[in-house]
Amino acid sequence: MSYIAEYQRSMNDPEGFWRKQAEDLDWFRFPQQTLTRDADGVGYWFADGEMNTAYMALDHHVKNGRGGQLALIYDSPVTGTKAKYTYAELTDAVARTAGMLADLGVVKGDRVIIYMPMIPEAVISMLAVARLGAIHSVVFGGFAPPELALRIDDAKPKVILTASCGIEVKRIIEYKPLIDKAFELAKHKPQSCVIFQRPQANAALTAGRDHDWAALQAKAKPVGCTPVKGSDPLYILYTSGTTGKPKGVVRENGGHAVALKYSMSAIYDMKPGEVFWASSDVGWVVGHSYIVYGPLLHGCTTVVYEGKPIMTPDAGALWRVCAEYGVKALFTAPTAFRAVKKEDPQALLMKPYDLSKLLTIFSAGERLDPPTEAWLTEVSGKPVIDHWWQTETGWAITANLRGVEPMPVKSGSSTMPVPGFDIQILDENGHEVGRGTQGYIALKLPLPPSCLNRVWGDDNKFRDGYLSMFHGYYATGDGGYIDQDGYVFVMGRVDDVINVAGHRLSTGEIEEVIATHPAVAECAVIARDDDLKGQVPMGLVVLKSGATMDEAVLQKELVTRVRDAIGAITCYKDTVVLARLPKTRSGKTLRKTLCNIVNGKPYTVPSTIDDSGVIPEIIETLRSKQFVA
Ligand code: COA
Ligand code: AMP
Repeated sequence: MSYIAEYQRSMNDPEGFWRKQAEDLDWFRFPQQTLTRDADGVGYWFADGEMNTAYMALDHHVKNGRGGQLALIYDSPVTGTKAKYTYAELTDAVARTAGMLADLGVVKGDRVIIYMPMIPEAVISMLAVARLGAIHSVVFGGFAPPELALRIDDAKPKVILTASCGIEVKRIIEYKPLIDKAFELAKHKPQSCVIFQRPQANAALTAGRDHDWAALQAKAKPVGCTPVKGSDPLYILYTSGTTGKPKGVVRENGGHAVALKYSMSAIYDMKPGEVFWASSDVGWVVGHSYIVYGPLLHGCTTVVYEGKPIMTPDAGALWRVCAEYGVKALFTAPTAFRAVKKEDPQALLMKPYDLSKLLTIFSAGERLDPPTEAWLTEVSGKPVIDHWWQTETGWAITANLRGVEPMPVKSGSSTMPVPGFDIQILDENGHEVGRGTQGYIALKLPLPPSCLNRVWGDDNKFRDGYLSMFHGYYATGDGGYIDQDGYVFVMGRVDDVINVAGHRLSTGEIEEVIATHPAVAECAVIARDDDLKGQVPMGLVVLKSGATMDEAVLQKELVTRVRDAIGAITCYKDTVVLARLPKTRSGKTLRKTLCNIVNGKPYTVPSTIDDSGVIPEIIETLRSKQFVA
């Protein structure tokens, strides 16, 4: 099958195309409705099918002879631990954990927050929640208590599952104080919190609220899978938008399972029994889709890695894991490869390893910059495949379909639309632009299976946030172009979302934190280009009149505030005090202009600027602090 034929089939007969893919899964009742649409053109897939995602990902394989095959490999250089689970063992662990949650009163539709490091129990927890037909919301362990509290208040979980600590290279991060703080900040009070005690830190339990994971497990009985509808939510995953408050992307069971199963063969060219490694974190969408659900739905072995690409212990870590477990496809973010390249430019640490089983390296999370791609291709000798996606879609929008027809790689492009995605480049009035012209990347409705069709608790947020910009389209928030050959080039966000080391953050949210400082009158947070992390946030602040503050002290205080409010992953470091910010006459701060100035890019000053003298003044200040040449 050629890529074009596959893609055209998905466009000409979407229902037939996806019904066929749905046949590859083990439903309790096969869906009669493949696709329904509402008045806005939003699609709902497999709504009346009956299923359970954990059943499809585990029990189904055990019933079909894969019980003895490895499902999950845990490799933790930070604790010196390794463990392996067969499909039968993982199914048992999940069934017992589901029993533990049922004992705590969790039933279908309840929410459970999972705040855990990269340990098998994180994956087991997700699948156990799914087994009960409940809805999980995983919160990345690097988020600070206020972020956790926001998610508690929005998702209103009955239970929180956590661990006593995470480990950042050698630093032990105790979770209990973070959980306590989040409980204190949140208005909603979850009924219980279950803590998995790790040998590196023991959490003192809060009476009446906290439970010891091992003690509950010892009493729990394994439970079966609760049937859910295809349209029932499997999970909520919060992601940064343009406002200060993260959005809860809702993922439905049916479309998610169908799209991920299809992607494992079509995009990643994986066969059941092979080893797939997404070196990410279960707190991100990549972790949900390709550490947990995709590989297991497809009967593959997945790797849960608790470590970094460098420092644990060195820049050979990725290659060591690939060789040790015979990984066929490796998937991580460009920033990880940039870190490896910086530490080991000649890839000497790759040499000791037999990487003959590793056939393809996939990259996503941010644009794969051509120098990193060229380096990785050269040192690995493997195809390096960029693919573009978002939390909202749950899988790739553009990719090189390695399992359908491998296409030539074009540097800087994430290749072509994945079947089901109708990608258009639009101008600001919603008109299609020609090939080679940059514009807003929009997806024509209905979106294919797995993509969001609502935001948790706020339908207006979905419609206003994604559908109102262009009638009949989902606005991705990314800009880019399609070249003459149909290759898509995603060039970056067109809104106030930034990407720091593959982590999606909102500049608006950082601004809100900075604005709480008593000396700050107003601020603009912009993304500064960074060789390692792609982008890092930088704060341009104006002090309150009469406020005098040592800049170094202010900088330190703002760093602490941002770390405490959002998390260290924000990588907020630089603050520059300005006399004023450039604004339009209607009071809008010219963030894009500031961003281009700081990054040495050509910039325009709109004719609506309030005072044309402000830009030279800012450039002078930035120059004096060596932020611009
Ligand atoms: N819990 C607590 N803190 C965390 C954390 C977690 N789960 N993850 C990161 N942090 C902290 C780090 O310890 C660091 O703190 P510090 O400023 O006190 O040193 C800070 O957040 C920044 O972390 P990070 O961006 O990971 O920087 P790093 O210097 O520790 O590592 C890389 C650099 C490139 C190795 C790392 O960013 C990386 O592996 N990136 C790949 C990201 C990725 O896989 N993204 C998934 C998308 S597919
Ligand atoms: P997240 O929702 O965290 O996965 O972040 C999604 C955003 O990351 C997208 O909107 C893009 O801005 C960026 N992104 C992810 N993958 C790519 C890619 N391959 N190329 C360019 N940008 C990407």
